[in-house]
Amino acid sequence: MHNRGKLAFCLLIGLSAILAAGFAFAATKAPEGDITIHSGEVFKEFKQGPVVFPHPKHKAAKCTDCHHEFKDGKDVWQEGQEVKKCFACHKLEADGKMVKLEKAYHDKCQNCHKKLKNENKPTGPVTCAKCHQKKK
Ligand code: HEC
Ligand code: HEC
Ligand code: HEC
Ligand code: HEC
Repeated sequence: MHNRGKLAFCLLIGLSAILAAGFAFAATKAPEGDITIHSGEVFKEFKQGPVVFPHPKHKAAKCTDCHHEFKDGKDVWQEGQEVKKCFACHKLEADGKMVKLEKAYHDKCQNCHKKLKNENKPTGPVTCAKCHQKKK
């Protein structure tokens, strides 16, 4: 009886460790569904509505095309690492090389869509109303 209890306890600990590792890993994987970008933490008042971003439609791009983290001017972010919100670093106004949040999004999203459009390749929206939903 005593030994069984111990075994059950060990299994429980082992299982929690596996689950915890699983969750930690899941948090660094690209979401399978749409995410809605609406950074109220930075934009106190919105001129435009939220933007829906589908990771699954961007599988042809590398994670590092969009995610980065700089140390001493070098991009050190690698796939599998934790992903911070863009607004964790990019703020309402530019700060040195750090472009402001609105520009960070527009340069990242629009520039790629426009470039591909010019090359007649499949691409995402390039006009305001196709990216921004109606303001509520
Ligand atoms: C490819 C997608 C895309 C296109 C096209 C686009 N935007 Fe955005 N824009 C974004 C994203 C993403 C954000 C960040 C949204 C947020 O955090 O709420 C943003 C933020 C903004 C913001 C700052 C937040 C706010 O609502 O005040 C403004 C202003 C804005 N866009 C205006 C425009 C205008 C005007 C156009 C057309 C000339 C445009 N955008 C086209 C993706 C796009
Ligand atoms: C085309 C651009 C783009 C690509 C490619 C991309 N991501 Fe993202 N990812 C984003 C944006 C934008 C967000 C939202 C950031 C925010 O809300 O500040 C995001 C958010 C995330 C999040 C956080 C989700 C959440 O709910 O907080 C994770 C994790 C993530 N990405 C992982 C990945 C991985 C792994 C890859 C490569 C397989 C990848 N992304 C490729 C643009 C991209
Ligand atoms: C950990 C902080 C951090 C996060 C998170 C971050 N950035 Fe940046 N970003 C920077 C820094 C620092 C620079 C300036 C890099 C340089 O030129 O030295 C930069 C530069 C940029 C630039 C201009 C240079 C380029 O690569 O085109 C764009 C656009 C940009 N970021 C978009 C984004 C977007 C979109 C997100 C969210 C998906 C994001 N950033 C998340 C720190 C961050
Ligand atoms: C590296 C290039 C690249 C970047 C960066 C990029 N996209 Fe895209 N995006 C694409 C391509 C390519 C498609 C078309 C994929 C397809 O049709 O299979 C697309 C499609 C889309 C679509 C349309 C999906 C649909 O249902 O038709 C939306 C919305 C979108 N992108 C939003 C964004 C936003 C918001 C950002 C910035 C956070 C962004 N994209 C950054 C390349 C990019």
